[in-house]
Amino acid sequence: MSEDLSELSSLKAQIQQLKSQLRLANIQPDLQEHHWLALMQNTDDIILVLDGEDRLQSINRSLESLPLHLELGQPIYAHLPEEPARKLRRTMQKSREAAVPQYFEQALTAADGSLRWYYTKVIGFTAAGSCGGAILIVTDITSRKRIDAHLEQATADAQAANLAKNMFLAVMSHEIRTPLNGMMGMLQLLKLTALNNEQRDMIEIALHSSEGLLGLLTDLLDFSKIEAGRMELDQENFELRRLVEDVVAIQATSSQKKDLVLKCRIEHRVSDRRRGDILRLQQILTNLLNNAIKFTDKGEVSLRLSQGQAADEVCFEVKDTGIGISAELGDAIFEPFMQADGSIRRKHGGTGLGLPICRRLVRAMGGELHYEPQAEGGTRFYFSLKLPEASFIPEDLPEPETLLPPDARVLVVEDNLVNQMVAVKMLEKLGLAADVALDGEQGLAAIAAKKYDLVLMDMMMPVLDGHDDAGFRWT
Ligand SMILES: Nc1ncnc2c1ncn2[C@@H]1O[C@H](COP(=O)(O)OP(=O)(O)O)[C@@H](O)[C@H]1O
Ligand SMILES: [Mg+2]
Repeated sequence: MSEDLSELSSLKAQIQQLKSQLRLANIQPDLQEHHWLALMQNTDDIILVLDGEDRLQSINRSLESLPLHLELGQPIYAHLPEEPARKLRRTMQKSREAAVPQYFEQALTAADGSLRWYYTKVIGFTAAGSCGGAILIVTDITSRKRIDAHLEQATADAQAANLAKNMFLAVMSHEIRTPLNGMMGMLQLLKLTALNNEQRDMIEIALHSSEGLLGLLTDLLDFSKIEAGRMELDQENFELRRLVEDVVAIQATSSQKKDLVLKCRIEHRVSDRRRGDILRLQQILTNLLNNAIKFTDKGEVSLRLSQGQAADEVCFEVKDTGIGISAELGDAIFEPFMQADGSIRRKHGGTGLGLPICRRLVRAMGGELHYEPQAEGGTRFYFSLKLPEASFIPEDLPEPETLLPPDARVLVVEDNLVNQMVAVKMLEKLGLAADVALDGEQGLAAIAAKKYDLVLMDMMMPVLDGHDDAGFRWT
């Protein structure tokens, strides 16, 4: 009896459980529909539901919310313009085939004539009957498109402005260099005339200032060229030891003047014959040594070359015992026109273009220029470059004197009258007579009429310039 009772109560419990499951099962669809409705009513997107034959079943907004002719119960394509209809058909097909949502973007003209952009996500179902059909979720992306267009325009404008700035710098530095060369040439000629000591000192100062200006212009020109992406690197065979000797020789006088020890070491393992842009490499090392000497008052400056990890990799290091650079400055020291503090310009001059040029040149050659303050004071600049080994080294050219006969005839092709005069007078000082031509065309005519041993020509001139004439320049 008691067993029957317990069986009965367990059956009752089971019935209760089944009942509550049944209730839940009835409630769930209601709940789902409730959520679905809330979503449809509150989303910012326009949601269209299509049946298996792509007829519009429902839309969560008024039929006019899209600038299209839509009718409930009609196939969605019925009144669509050609392009959106084609895109929608294709996307729908893809979505059904791949069984994943697909999307497309489409511009439509609104009633007021403005252009609006829409992003449509297509969720297609392949199953037939009530499960077939598709859901289209349409998002108005007009404002995003406008922002994108503005951004694109702003980027293009900024790039154009940057290019214009670099072109301006390149042209201006060339244009300023022409009269400056005239000034320097005349000063050098003046120095050769009878002068008293005071006049000689004044000319020295004027020459020194013009050399500074010329250096600045060269830096500006280099910097603008690199920034404009117009810096081309040469690939030629050269000898590393010779390069280092030349660089150190240039710096020897200034280090002696300051009583500094100038050291140079090349690790034995570093092989000598290499390929690369020797002039640019020379420029980098000269700049770094120049800084090291400029910012060091006592102690030593050293240049060291060692073998890198890869077979053709050379590590370069310029170290000094000078005023040092605060580590806080970090990479900012490589920004153009950056100098450690205001006193640097007053005390040492300079413009802060040396390091940015060096860093960009090292990068162009595939390396990276770094620096680190030394614990004992001073700074160490270092970088490494892959310089492939060269198979041969071109023979040295004979000394220039042996190239020209004493009665050599020279043609100077130069459009700037002052520079023309400077060149002729300097040649006269060397005992050479020279003819002049004002542009490339006149130069060609002069060469056709008479044989010349040497033609000196400006690389940028009206009518025909040194580049165009280069074919005959060396004949
Ligand atoms: N070896 C160095 N020791 C100390 N400071 C240096 C050294 N090299 C560069 N600097 C700092 O970096 C700045 C930028 O160098 P650079 O671009 O060559 O410009 P500039 O030599 O024309 O001042 C210098 O003004 C100086 O403050
Ligand atoms: Mg410098």
